Amino acid sequence: MILEPEKRNMVLPLPVVLISTISKDGIRNAAPWSCVMPILRPLDLVVIASWLKRDTLDNIRETGEFVINVPPVEMADPVMICAKNVSPEVDEIEMAGLRARPSKKIKAPGIEGCLAWIECVLEEEILRDKYALIVGRVVHLEADDSIVNDSGEIDLERARRLSQVISKISRP
Ligand SMILES: Cc1cc2nc3c(=O)[nH]c(=O)nc-3n(C[C@H](O)[C@H](O)[C@H](O)COP(=O)(O)O)c2cc1C
Repeated sequence: MILEPEKRNMVLPLPVVLISTISKDGIRNAAPWSCVMPILRPLDLVVIASWLKRDTLDNIRETGEFVINVPPVEMADPVMICAKNVSPEVDEIEMAGLRARPSKKIKAPGIEGCLAWIECVLEEEILRDKYALIVGRVVHLEADDSIVNDSGEIDLERARRLSQVISKISRP
């Protein structure tokens, strides 16, 4: 079957993560994100693609920090609450009934109950007319102990992650 180019998501499985940030005034924000990719092994870089009108993007520009939280499938409902378009004055972590988790290396908090947390600092922004690519350098990477097996590997049975395919979540 030939697919339209914009249907590429049908063949490339996309994760659903929550990106948490704080504004320069200390307001906490969280947003679901799928366009997230590590940049080559063993580099410590990740890239996220953002539309220009995002509080997440504004906060990263202001503070230079963000956390990529990997939510379990059970967190789908609060994750989708964070997809709502609300004022930057709203604390979206509280709005979604989620709990913040202090980060180890940066001020932006993570989200309690997630499977893993990737703390990043802004390395570079690549700005285009319609979107921005944010390159983050990973400064702290942590997985919840409960999903790591005796060999130090992630147990995929226990770590049931959200993805656009598995969870039937798609962009609103
Ligand atoms: C599953 C899912 C994936 C998303 N992925 C992205 C993405 O990769 N890039 C993006 O700019 N917006 C993405 N969005 C949209 C943002 O989450 C949404 O616009 C959110 O309100 C932005 O919040 P903010 O303005 O607080 O940053 C996604 C939404 C959903 C539901």
